[in-house]
Amino acid sequence: MSDLFDFDKPDRYAVMGNPVRHSKSPRLHALFAAQTGQNIEYSAIQVDPGGLEQAIGNFQASDGKGLNITVPFKRIAWELMDELSDRACLAGAVNTVLFRNNRYFGDNTDGIGLVRDIRDNHQTRLGGKEILLLGAGGAARGAVEPLLTENPAQLVIANRTPDKAKTLAREFGKLGEISGCGLPALAGQQFDLVINATAASLVGELPPLPADLLAERGWCYDMMYGAEPTPFLRWAEQHGATKSVDGLGMLVEQAAESFYLWRSIRPDTAAVIELLRKDLCNDC
Ligand code: ATR
Repeated sequence: MSDLFDFDKPDRYAVMGNPVRHSKSPRLHALFAAQTGQNIEYSAIQVDPGGLEQAIGNFQASDGKGLNITVPFKRIAWELMDELSDRACLAGAVNTVLFRNNRYFGDNTDGIGLVRDIRDNHQTRLGGKEILLLGAGGAARGAVEPLLTENPAQLVIANRTPDKAKTLAREFGKLGEISGCGLPALAGQQFDLVINATAASLVGELPPLPADLLAERGWCYDMMYGAEPTPFLRWAEQHGATKSVDGLGMLVEQAAESFYLWRSIRPDTAAVIELLRKDLCNDC
């Protein structure tokens, strides 16, 4: 039967990455689809290094509607787009693709996912706050503009390689109060919120941090997540953080924003975060 009459055929989406086997995106989008009554199919596609352009083309040609892009392809995807959202343009990376009139539209939902988790799920107003962002790689870059949009008193980027933090801060200097430095320069400074966007937690490490880094009632957020607290979150608990939060909520929020871009409907994230947390605990 021709596709024309195939009314029940689900719209196809996928996440492309390498490795992609452990991606939570298929589970997340299946939960969103069930919750909102959307007829979609979402798969995980492992892409070889150098194979992203071909893989995106093949997916679009087979009537795919949109994609998530994950490590290590977010920068390459950015270069392949016909059109970019403002936030993707600034982030220099694309994690969401929408096929529109045979063109690739690229967005980046990571930064807004982080801000929504902090601001809405953890009910923290960022306006007027002293915020420290650790790291100056792709994850940190994606967070800068969405954080500055909340009008913090100051956003400091600190990185193991100081020049990368300074360059990143200079790039975003027109958007708000922002500066960059190395980790030793943090001595004597205090922050209301410290966000870890380094890859250190991935390898069980922790950037060297002064013991008195947190202001009164200060708290910590790690973009990484896992069944166990990351080394950074353990540090937070030992250094007086009022709260230490991992990146599971950010993961769900960025996915919800992709879903909204594709389907124009916003899923309820709280229930999904709770489910994923249970999954994580069951895995340990
Ligand atoms: P991502 O896309 O996850 O941000 P990335 O672009 O490779 O990955 O950036 C990794 C970030 O984590 C960098 O800021 C890196 O610091 P350098 O610029 O000095 O390399 C930081 N990072 C990685 N491992 C670290 C560690 N053990 N301690 C402190 N910072 C670390």
